[in-house]
Amino acid sequence: MTIQKVMVIGAGQMGSGIAQVCALAGFHVYMNDLKQEFLDRGLAGITKNLVRSVEKGRMTAEAKDEVLGRLTATTNLEDAKHVDIVIEAAVENMDIKKKIFAQLDGIAPAHAILATNTSSLPITEIAAATNRPEKVIGMHFMNPVPVMKLVEIIRGLQTADEVYAAIEDMTKKLSKVPVEVNDFPGFVSNRVLMPMINEAIFTVYEGVATPEAIDEVMKLGMNHPMGPLTLADFIGLDTCLYIMETLHEGFGDDKYRPCPLLRKYVKAGWLGRKTGRGFYTYE
Ligand code: CAA
Repeated sequence: MTIQKVMVIGAGQMGSGIAQVCALAGFHVYMNDLKQEFLDRGLAGITKNLVRSVEKGRMTAEAKDEVLGRLTATTNLEDAKHVDIVIEAAVENMDIKKKIFAQLDGIAPAHAILATNTSSLPITEIAAATNRPEKVIGMHFMNPVPVMKLVEIIRGLQTADEVYAAIEDMTKKLSKVPVEVNDFPGFVSNRVLMPMINEAIFTVYEGVATPEAIDEVMKLGMNHPMGPLTLADFIGLDTCLYIMETLHEGFGDDKYRPCPLLRKYVKAGWLGRKTGRGFYTYE
């Protein structure tokens, strides 16, 4: 199974990061989103990152142009007919993902793998929206994608061994480290990370300490690069809430109950960095 051409669905924080690392690794990439303005924003972010690499002497200006030359921005999902793999990084919403996968199943060539960057939703259920469940797999990148080494790889119930092997191989070509996990809500990364973030929010809610103090404890005491509340703002509070709800619903255990303060902030539209306000305020 040879992968040469890739489509990434979504040009947001995750999608543009995935498109960047794929183009850097030599793959031809179609970056797809619903509107040209989303693609323009994604491309601007990629260009900024590459220009910084040139300025820091990590890459030549010619190499940067070659990488950008391997990227095609498209609003046309039909371009999936040209590719060997689609990596979906659209919003975390099961209905939307199922719709996208059903559409892709009708467009992408029969040999193409359909991967999802979902951070917590069941791969098996997404795969069931297609007629090729053996070619559907989870490929969960971490934010910021160009920096973080991990890709969690999640097999659905019917994922074929050769599909797993192809994804493992591709992940290594992206200079990332693949780690195999089973298909359970939140996989490993978010099952461990999100309850910690949720608990940090409870400590704000209960007045145990200020956000600054909580982050300082975890940064200086546990050597975390970012405190949990800074990280929550970075990930997006809507995403954090959605993942906690997926864990709560999936396991039915009260220990995954989202903190009421998290719900309140999301209702207020305080979603973290992307809206300029979360546990902290941003310019
Ligand atoms: N895109 C590309 N490069 C970036 C970047 C971005 N968004 N953010 C930072 N970088 C690069 C910087 O350019 C810098 O590179 P150079 O030194 O080569 O120039 C390097 O990363 C370090 O950046 P900084 O010095 O500005 O800041 P830092 O040392 O604090 O690192 C960080 C920033 C890597 C984000 C670090 O704070 C960190 O690791 N934070 C935790 C991130 C984390 O936990 N991510 C997982 C989130 S959970 C997830 O993604 C899964 C999910 O499903 C929700």
